[in-house]
Amino acid sequence: MKRRHAIGLGAAGIAGAGAGFAASRLLPEPSAQAADPAAEAIEFYGEHQAGIVTPAQDRLHFAAFDVITSDRDELIDPHTAAPPPPPRRGGAHFAGPGGASGGDYYAPPDDTGEAQGLPPSGLTLTFGVGPGLFTDADGADRFGLAAKRPEALADLPGFPLDDLDPAISGGDLCIQACANDPQIAVHAVRNLARIGFGTVAIRWSQLGFGRTSSTSLAQATPRNLMGFKDGTANLKAEDEDLLAEHLWAPEGDGAAWMTGGSYMVTRRIRMMIETWDRTSLAEQEAIIGRDKAEGAPLSGGGEFDEPDFDAVHDGAPAIAVNAHIKLAHPTSHGGARMLRRGYSFVDGSDELGRLDAGLFFIAYQRDPATGFVPVQQALAQNDVLNEYIKHTSSAVFACPPGVADADDWWGRALFE
Ligand code: HEM
Repeated sequence: MKRRHAIGLGAAGIAGAGAGFAASRLLPEPSAQAADPAAEAIEFYGEHQAGIVTPAQDRLHFAAFDVITSDRDELIDPHTAAPPPPPRRGGAHFAGPGGASGGDYYAPPDDTGEAQGLPPSGLTLTFGVGPGLFTDADGADRFGLAAKRPEALADLPGFPLDDLDPAISGGDLCIQACANDPQIAVHAVRNLARIGFGTVAIRWSQLGFGRTSSTSLAQATPRNLMGFKDGTANLKAEDEDLLAEHLWAPEGDGAAWMTGGSYMVTRRIRMMIETWDRTSLAEQEAIIGRDKAEGAPLSGGGEFDEPDFDAVHDGAPAIAVNAHIKLAHPTSHGGARMLRRGYSFVDGSDELGRLDAGLFFIAYQRDPATGFVPVQQALAQNDVLNEYIKHTSSAVFACPPGVADADDWWGRALFE
């Protein structure tokens, strides 16, 4: 059984009840829920968007879009845009000459088809808008939205050691598609991009695998490509008070349309894998501040015990003052917290035969200025890990609250 609500590339890019693109094609009925993560269907409607505190799935397809129309109505509903490219004769294989599946044999099929027969695989789609949607490079108001730009949606400052490629940074809109099957995530992004043809264009995209974080106490902590457990001290879905304080934008926090939403920061962080692999275990552990086998802090105890930054071993701090967890810990930043939800990536290898691999870091928070920014400032200045990593892409997006029901759509309140 399939759902009827629509999520065409519409308001603020990807939305629009009645926009003609039924989410049913991407989001099967939650009643199909099963214990098997491959079969699981995640509820789409809700107070908050899915894909933030949802237990992190194993695969990611992330896409950032440029809005290429200047027409506000078209942005709200891309189906008012120019018609799609002309049909390819004989190119459609699903309807048949008689239109057996209700489609037009001489038009492109409604759906690209590669997800047919596959289970929902825990698919979530999380949508955000970037600072560039509000004003262009000259500061001109693009869609009459400038006054609605939240203060928290500020361009990130530059950080020491940044090596950002503008071609894979920024974006007016984004879609984070997570699923336990990469084909399901890719299918979702591909079909949304197809529907947005002429209104939005993909600016850059990133595939990810092997979640590098837990977002629920029910999940075991995964390992990143450096081989360390990642996500131990993350915000978790069950920490409701902490989520209210650090994750969700509260009422009265500036932009009313963002109440119940969250701000997303993405950073593509390349790892110098070959150098890391030649580093001793002792040094690797000192750099992170945790032991590699269990993920326990070097001050002692188990994985989930709080690190003791005052503990001393052999006359020196057990956790070095420039260890990653010391610099990233909330006590070093007046309590800054974020929900990390990143993925590993391997994008082939470079001209020297080194793996082009690392961490596609994603973090959600109530305000990047008090979440990601102070932490990254400290890490960029002092983290020993910097010898082994390079930030190559950066973006920030405001992810509005959830879609309430079939009459609602992504970002509706922004356009009202
Ligand atoms: C903790 C790895 C980049 C923020 C950790 C931990 C590992 C790790 C292994 C310990 C386990 C845990 O609590 O999750 C990495 C690697 C990175 C990276 C390999 C780059 C490739 C970043 C960045 C930020 C960040 C860019 C944010 C600016 C944090 C925070 C913690 C943490 C907040 C928890 C600290 C605590 O409260 O103990 N990271 N990290 N990390 N990391 Fe990173």
